[in-house]
Formats: sequence, structure tokens, C-alpha cells
Amino acid sequence: MDLHARRADSFGAQAEAYAEHRPDYPVAAIRWALEPLGTDERLDVLDLAAGTGKLTAGLSAEGHRVTAVEPNEQMLSELVRRVHGVRALPGHAEHIPVPDQTVDAVFVGTAFHWFDQEKALPEIARVLRPGGVLAVMWVEPVTDVEWVRDLERMSATSVESERHDPVSIMAHPSFAPEERTTFPHSHHRDSPEAAIAWINTHSRMIVIDEQERAAINDKMLTYLRERPETSNGPFDVPLLAEVFRTVRVSE
Ligand SMILES: C[S@@+](CC[C@H](N)C(=O)[O-])C[C@H]1O[C@@H](n2cnc3c(N)ncnc32)[C@H](O)[C@@H]1O
Repeated sequence: MDLHARRADSFGAQAEAYAEHRPDYPVAAIRWALEPLGTDERLDVLDLAAGTGKLTAGLSAEGHRVTAVEPNEQMLSELVRRVHGVRALPGHAEHIPVPDQTVDAVFVGTAFHWFDQEKALPEIARVLRPGGVLAVMWVEPVTDVEWVRDLERMSATSVESERHDPVSIMAHPSFAPEERTTFPHSHHRDSPEAAIAWINTHSRMIVIDEQERAAINDKMLTYLRERPETSNGPFDVPLLAEVFRTVRVSE
């Protein structure tokens, strides 16, 4: 298995910690993504690469009928354990286990960069009703805040962060040109240790060897225990949700 595939499949090893420590998504991002559908009604929504259900829970709380699709068994088990009232299915973006034209929107949270997009985009187009929406989003730390930038720099590992530019990737004849916006968000952490537990759920941390991980964690912990913003009790990590939406057009 190459490194990309190994990383795409790495999250299950940290499934419980992932569910515990990763941030959720701003509700404003979900609402903005669904605007092109022009309705307040309950929609059929697919959360693709749903992980432990961070975005699934937000979609469900908005009142939509949600199907969550996730290939990793441990991640899917956490989702089933934690998010109730949704349909949860094993499956990949390149072969989505739902029939043609049965969903109003497909959401992808912090996972589009793991897909084989040449295969995934026609699959997403297949399951969407005409006029349906594809929404792709990431939630990332705001690195113009000094301590957050320092932490990001310290958490770099011997494997690079992976993320593609969806503006070019989403160009596909089944989809209208995408629109992009951002929403401020934050991640509440009770302690420096909790911030480090969150960082350790990223694939670049999961796939490195124990020695490298321990050295990085030591460095981050020392830093957070010294910084005035983070040393005394709970703090919020400033995040930005970056959201892309595009509409399924008839060919
Ligand atoms: C960073 S996690 C994001 C999970 C969830 N959407 C969230 O926001 O918390 C990436 C997820 O993508 C899944 N994944 C990786 N490759 C995939 C593929 N080809 N098709 C569908 N899901 C995939 C992984 O198993 C993992 O659960």
C-alpha cells in the first residue's frame, strides 16, 4: 500500500480519539451549502467519508434525512455508537452504495483530498438529483494567530500535510462552477493535553513512528504549557471552515 492509501485508511486506529477530539462543523456552513436548493424542507443528504459522524451529527440536527457512508470499519462503528437516527453504510466515494438520483445534497467534510476524484465525481453526480448540491468543506486552524501558527509548525512531521485545491479539482461537466466561502469556527480544549490529543488524530501523526511522535508531542506540550493563551485551563483554538458548493447540472 502506498503512503497516500495508508494515510487515507489510517484514521480507524484513532477512531475513539477522533470522535472525542476532532472539531465539528459550523451550522452556518451547512446552511450556506444548501442554499441553492431554495427550500427549508427536510432534505435527503449524504455525508460521504463520514468518519465518526462529526458532520453527520450537524446535518441530522438540522432535521435532514442523513445517510452516512464511510469505508473504515472502526470509524463507522464510532459513528453508529454516537450518532443516532441516521442511516450508516460502509462504502467508498468511488463506489457509493446508494441508487441513482436519490439525494438532494452530498457533503464531504475534510476528506475530499483522499478520494480518487476521477472516479468519485461521476459517482457523486450519479447519486444526486438534478439541481442537487455537492458541498466540500475543510475545518482548519487559523494560522495568523501566533500560537496557533507555532503549534501547526511544530506538528509538521516527516510526512507532508495532504490537501488538494478543490477549485480546480471540482471542474467536471456534471457540475456548475463552484462557489467558495469561509466561516469562523473554534475548537474548545480543556487543556494543552486535549489540544495534543486532537493533533494526534491527523493522519500525518498517525502514520509516523512512535519515537518521532513522542518527540513532537513533547515539544508541543512544553510550548502550550508556557504560552499565556493556553497554559491556564480551557482555551478555544480559532478555526476557519472553508466551504465549496456546486450544483449538479443536467448533461
Ligand atoms: C479526516 S477524516 C474526515 C471524517 C469526517 N468527515 C469528519 O469531518 O470528521 C477522513 C475520512 O475519509 C475516509 N476516507 C478515506 N478514503 C476514502 C474514500 N476513498 N472514500 C470515502 N471515504 C474515504 C477515512 O476513512 C476517514 O474517515
